Amino acid sequence: MSTEISNSGGADFIVVANRLPVDLERLPDGTERWKHSPGGLVSALQPFLQRNSGAWVGWPGVADVEVDKFAEDGIWLHPVMLTSDEVRLYYEGFSNGTLWPLYHDVVASPVFDREWWNSYVKVNQRFADAVAQIAADGAIVWVQDYQLQLVPAMLREQRPDLRIGFFLHIPFPPTELFMQLPWRREIIQGLLGADLIGFHRPGGAQNYLWLVRRLIGLEPSRGAVGVRTRPGVVQVGDRSVRVGAFPISIDASGLDTLSRSRDVIQRTRQIRSDLGNPRKIILGVDRLDYTKGIDVRLYALQELLSEGRIDPTEVVMVQLATPSRERVEHYQRMRGEIEQVVSRINGEFGRVGHPVVHYLHQSINRKELAAFFSAADVMLVTPVRDGMNLVCKEYVACRHDLGGALVLSEFAGAAAELTSAFLVNPHDLDGVKNAMESALEVDPAEGRRRMRALRRQVLTHDVDRWARSFLDALQPSSELLS
Ligand code: ADP
Ligand code: G6P
Repeated sequence: MSTEISNSGGADFIVVANRLPVDLERLPDGTERWKHSPGGLVSALQPFLQRNSGAWVGWPGVADVEVDKFAEDGIWLHPVMLTSDEVRLYYEGFSNGTLWPLYHDVVASPVFDREWWNSYVKVNQRFADAVAQIAADGAIVWVQDYQLQLVPAMLREQRPDLRIGFFLHIPFPPTELFMQLPWRREIIQGLLGADLIGFHRPGGAQNYLWLVRRLIGLEPSRGAVGVRTRPGVVQVGDRSVRVGAFPISIDASGLDTLSRSRDVIQRTRQIRSDLGNPRKIILGVDRLDYTKGIDVRLYALQELLSEGRIDPTEVVMVQLATPSRERVEHYQRMRGEIEQVVSRINGEFGRVGHPVVHYLHQSINRKELAAFFSAADVMLVTPVRDGMNLVCKEYVACRHDLGGALVLSEFAGAAAELTSAFLVNPHDLDGVKNAMESALEVDPAEGRRRMRALRRQVLTHDVDRWARSFLDALQPSSELLS
């Protein structure tokens, strides 16, 4: 694969995602600055692209702003403008009020609104047009995630010369749930414009293949899809579309190195001491999203405290929650609920200067995050549904000391790989409580054994391996996936 880009000619390798890796931030004094965008998609793809160069087409995160293309960290960024109406209808509406809950097991009710859908079509077309303009002849274009599922077909229509890949970063739902969508056929058809469609898990790929048969009437291959192997194949006219499973990962060695640095080691000590050097520190790190089960772990903690199974003078919990999608109703409600439980726990079990739960509704930088991971004796990752979940892999990558224990939901894609974690069903509160207790009290030798196994998996399956396996399979001649 050629990854050269030039300013004048077209780009040979283009990532297309709803967001650019940086968000434009307007400060109260009227000035502007760029900051790191939230979420796992950017965390995963940015380090890969920095190492390989290419172009990235995406929205700069604020409405009604036209920005010229610019280069950052070796990547050409091509901003796509969204009006404030489009942010409301396409982004907050169809992407995050319809698709997000529908694809996450309808844990919140999806809204089906025709105006939202119309805006989704219009904005997808704008992204496709932007890519069509900058792509070199025969370029590789890698379209990302649920916000842009129509882009592959729209792009192929204009530029049949391109090699187009699509990767879905969130779960692909069970077929019965997907069938609720009034525009189900259009989405399945939109994705078929790609040469390779990637999901985290084989189950997502199988569901998609079933829908191709049912909704489009094509006959896909019937064999079971494997992980990075044995893709499904759909013949669309003279094109073969492959459908495979590619579990995403993180820049594991980068985080491992960072967590060994003197700065991070010092900051880890500082954090422990700022928290009052408690016997045990429990940590949660998430975007503030209703799929992440932040409430589950808080209720579990509250009951463990009430039952005297956790001593509030010995255990401290830190919950870091990145602000997310703050104008979407479900998110507002969830935030209110979480903040209420936090204050209830602190009201009942805290002491002056010693709250039990430290809750920060803030985003922190990578170094600081590595220090929190290194300081945490127990990491709680309890989503009710998550495509992969990168936070749990980041925690493992930071534990070169083989310390710490991971409590992980079975409903995160990562659970299939991280089998040495304390796996829990987040719907079973007693099970979560028992797992938290076991993780807090794990025998050190047993804890090290588990962490060693987790690290073996995470350090050998990093984001470069994910991207390479996807891009290799995207090559027309690829035999990797046979
Ligand atoms: P999602 O993509 O749904 O947000 P992931 O777990 O896959 O979930 O990815 C989340 C990413 O955001 C991770 O890289 C994690 O480190 C980062 N992140 C989450 N919360 C914070 C926070 N409070 N500050 C900084 N980074 C955060
Ligand atoms: C998840 C999604 C991404 C999204 C990110 C942050 O990782 O898969 O596509 O960018 O969350 O969400 P936001 O709505 O702020 O872009």
